[in-house]
Amino acid sequence: MDWLIEGGSALMGGGFADTPVAITGGVFAGRPAAQATRIDARGLHVLPGIVDIHGDAFEVALMPRPRVPIAPEIALAAVDRQLVANGITTAFHGLSVSWEPGLRCLANARAFVAALDTMRPHLAADTRLHLRWETFAFEAMADITGWLTADPPPILAFNDHTTPMVEADYAARKLDKMAARAGISGAAYRALAEERWARRAEVPGAIAAMAASARAAGVTLLGHDETSPRMRAEFRALGAITCEFPMTLETAEAARAAGEHVVLGAPNVMRGGSHNNTLDAASAVVDGLPHQAE
Ligand SMILES: [Fe+2]
Repeated sequence: MDWLIEGGSALMGGGFADTPVAITGGVFAGRPAAQATRIDARGLHVLPGIVDIHGDAFEVALMPRPRVPIAPEIALAAVDRQLVANGITTAFHGLSVSWEPGLRCLANARAFVAALDTMRPHLAADTRLHLRWETFAFEAMADITGWLTADPPPILAFNDHTTPMVEADYAARKLDKMAARAGISGAAYRALAEERWARRAEVPGAIAAMAASARAAGVTLLGHDETSPRMRAEFRALGAITCEFPMTLETAEAARAAGEHVVLGAPNVMRGGSHNNTLDAASAVVDGLPHQAE
């Protein structure tokens, strides 16, 4: 199919220009083909498809209210329409695999992975997995190791939302949110978290084993919510050269100084700040921190 996109502001090189864009035989052309399909882009930006490497809007589609699950096939279809309507043509769904019951449990992750395999040919966006392994979810390691060699390959992030919660002594606002997502009471959630916390000595070994499996599979690794340059260095040593959602400017700067990728949230930019009251993405971008996506 040949196209002529007219009237829009097109991203060309380093900036936007008011120029038509012709695509002939799948490549940019200096002039439109005679039978090109014309698209009226007046008032719009014209830019390449956006690659979203960490989206979790699908979680809202999977569970629009606490304890109200929706079939993953339906959630995937709904989110796919939302993605392409917003210009995202490659999406990595941030699939949390946790020790929690409810939304982020291992059984739900298995169902989601299976549903994505079934649905992928029917989705408009190139839809992939960003596996968010909770590092205290030891029982999930065998499944995740299996998914590392899937086609297309996932990316894998080391998530630890247990340690900060315990260290903050289960701040009430967070605990209520986590418990609602898990479909259990706050007291029950806290008891489960304490069981996990008692096994914290096993976590470094689990992380090292998972990192080794991922490196062997050639999977891209990300550190998540890193709080210090020291933590960055620890995950760097494991092969995670992408620093996702650094919690402090020093951590982001350490990543940049090492020539690594820094990932910050688009909602952070749009909303004018971090929902966690940590690094402000917009000012960090102005300071030149994150790498451009490549
Ligand atoms: Fe996080």
